[in-house]
Amino acid sequence: MKSKILSFLKSNKDDFISGEKISQALGISRTAVWKYIKALKEEGYNIESISRKGYRIISSPDLLTFEEIKEHLITNVIGQHIIHFDTIGSTNTKAKELADQGQKDGTVIISEEQTTGRGRLGRNWISPKYKGIWMSIILRPTIDPNHISKITQVCAAAVSLAMDEINIQNFIKWPNDIVVNSKKVCGILTEMSCELNRINHVVLGIGINVNIDDEDFPKEIKKIATSLKVESKNTISRKALVSKILNNFETLYKEFSIEGNAQKSLEICREKSLLLGKNIDISRNNQIINVKAIDINDDGELIVEHSDGIKEKLISGEVSLKGIYGI
Ligand code: BTN
Repeated sequence: MKSKILSFLKSNKDDFISGEKISQALGISRTAVWKYIKALKEEGYNIESISRKGYRIISSPDLLTFEEIKEHLITNVIGQHIIHFDTIGSTNTKAKELADQGQKDGTVIISEEQTTGRGRLGRNWISPKYKGIWMSIILRPTIDPNHISKITQVCAAAVSLAMDEINIQNFIKWPNDIVVNSKKVCGILTEMSCELNRINHVVLGIGINVNIDDEDFPKEIKKIATSLKVESKNTISRKALVSKILNNFETLYKEFSIEGNAQKSLEICREKSLLLGKNIDISRNNQIINVKAIDINDDGELIVEHSDGIKEKLISGEVSLKGIYGI
C-alpha cells in the first residue's frame, strides 16, 4: 500500500493531491493514508502536507528500492523484480537461498547494508549503510557450463559502462575488479550451482564503494580501495547508478545468453583493461612469477607471456595477481 501511495504522489508530482482523493482511489481510510505518508517521511521522502490542499512530494531519498530504481530502468527482465532489504548478512547468500527455492531469472537482491558481506577467496567485504551498492543478480542461463566463467566479465563491462555514463574514468582489472585512480572501487563475486551439463543458477554479486568517505575505510584497506565519492569529490546517486548497471547488463547479457558469446563484453574488457601491456606478478604455489599481460582471449582467459617468450592462458581464480594496487 505504501508503494501505491508513493506511485500516486510521484505521478502527480507538481500538484497537491488530497487525502480524500488518495483514500478513495486506494480504498483505504484517510487516517491510513496519513499513517503511510508519515512512514514515507520517516524513510526520507520529503512530502509537503497542507491542510485543505493535501500532499505533494518534493523529493525522494537515495534508497535502492524498486520504486526508486524503476524510474531509470529500461530493462525487460533484469531488475524487474527487486527484493530490497534495509540490512542483511550477505545479498549473495540470500540470493543463493532464494534461487534454490526457485526465484526467477533476473531477480535482484539489494540491501542498504551488509553485516557479513563476502568477497572472493573467503575475504570480508565492508558494506556500510546507505554508502554503497550491495546487490546480487539471480540468473538462469541455459548455456553450456563451460562458458559460464565469462559472465563475470559481462558484469564488469556493464559496471564499467555505467560508470562511464556518470563520467567516472575507470579501468577493469581482469577478471573482476573495477579500478579508479589505481584503487579498487568495485568487486564482483560470481557463485554458481550446476550439474554436469546444466546450470541451475548463477548469482552475480556486485559490491561498489559509492559514497564511502575516506575515513570510513580501515587503514589496511585504504591502501588498495577507494570510493566514487572520494575520487570524484561528489556524492553520487546510487539509484541512478544501479539502474544504469542493470540497463547495460541486460544488453550485454542478451548476447551472452545465446551460446555464451561475450564478444562485445570482452571487447570492452580489453579496451578498459588495467593489465594489458603491463608486467604483472602472479602468485602460484607460493611462488611469485613476473609475466607480461598481452591479451584477453575470446574465452575470457588472460594471456600472459613469460620471460622466455612462452605464452600461457590464465583462468580466473587460478592465480592471484600481485602488485596491482601498489602492495
Ligand atoms: C571481491 O572480492 O572483489 C568481490 C566482492 C563482492 C562483494 C559483493 S557485495 C554484494 C554481494 N554480496 C556479498 O556478500 N558479496 C557480494
